Amino acid sequence: MGKVTWKAGTFEYPIPAVMVSLGTMEESNIITVAWTGIICTNPAKVYISIRPERYSYNIIKNTGEFVINLTTRKLAYATDWCGVRSGAKFDKFKEMKLTKEKANFVKCPMIKESPVSIECRVCKIEKLGSHHMFIADVLAINADERYINEKGAFDISKCDLIAYANGGYYPLDKKIGKFGFSVEKKKNKRKSSKRNMDKRKQ
Ligand SMILES: Cc1cc2nc3c(=O)[nH]c(=O)nc-3n(C[C@H](O)[C@H](O)[C@H](O)COP(=O)(O)O)c2cc1C
Repeated sequence: MGKVTWKAGTFEYPIPAVMVSLGTMEESNIITVAWTGIICTNPAKVYISIRPERYSYNIIKNTGEFVINLTTRKLAYATDWCGVRSGAKFDKFKEMKLTKEKANFVKCPMIKESPVSIECRVCKIEKLGSHHMFIADVLAINADERYINEKGAFDISKCDLIAYANGGYYPLDKKIGKFGFSVEKKKNKRKSSKRNMDKRKQ
C-alpha cells in the first residue's frame, strides 16, 4: 500500500497544545493554542498563531505579553475547555479552578497548576492569513520545583505532559531514547565488538 496525497493543509503532528495566559492579574484570560513552537535557540524565541477574531487576540496585541503554560494529563480537561469557550463570556481561571500566580517580567498571570510557565514578550506580528503569528522573546522560564532533582536538573518525564495530534490529546508515555542515542549505541557496539576481538586475541 502506498501513500494517499491530500491537498495542502496542516498535518504536522504531534505538537503541544498549550494554555496561553494573558491580560493582567485582575483581568486575565486563557486561550488554548496548538499552533505554537520554538523558533530560535539564541536568543530564545517562540511563536503562537492566533485568529484575529479570537477574544484574546486584541488583548495580546495591545499588551504585547503572554505566558505559555505547558499542559499535563491532569490539565487536559481545562486545556480543552479553554479552547472551546470564550473569555468574553467566562472567567476561565474561575470556571476551571485554576490558580493565578504572579509572573516575574510580565503582567499576565501564570497558571500555578502547570509544571512550566514561559514568560513571553511579543517582538513581531506576522499577518499570515487565517492566523496571525505572534513572535516573542522568552523572558523567563518558571519551572515547578517538584520536578527538579537534587542535582538541579528538571525531570520532564515526571510532569505527565500531553501532546496534541490530529484533533486528539495523547499522553507522552515512556521515553524511548535520548538526544544522540543513535550514535551512542553504535559507538558502544563498536567498542564492545573491539573488546570481544581483543578478548579473543588474548
Ligand atoms: C486543542 C486546541 C488548539 C487550539 N489552537 C488554536 C490556535 O493555535 N490558534 C487559535 O487562534 N485558536 C486555537 N484554538 C481555539 C481557541 O482556543 C478557542 O477559539 C478559544 O475559545 C478562544 O478563546 P477566547 O475567545 O477566550 O480568546 C484551539 C482550540 C483547541 C481546543
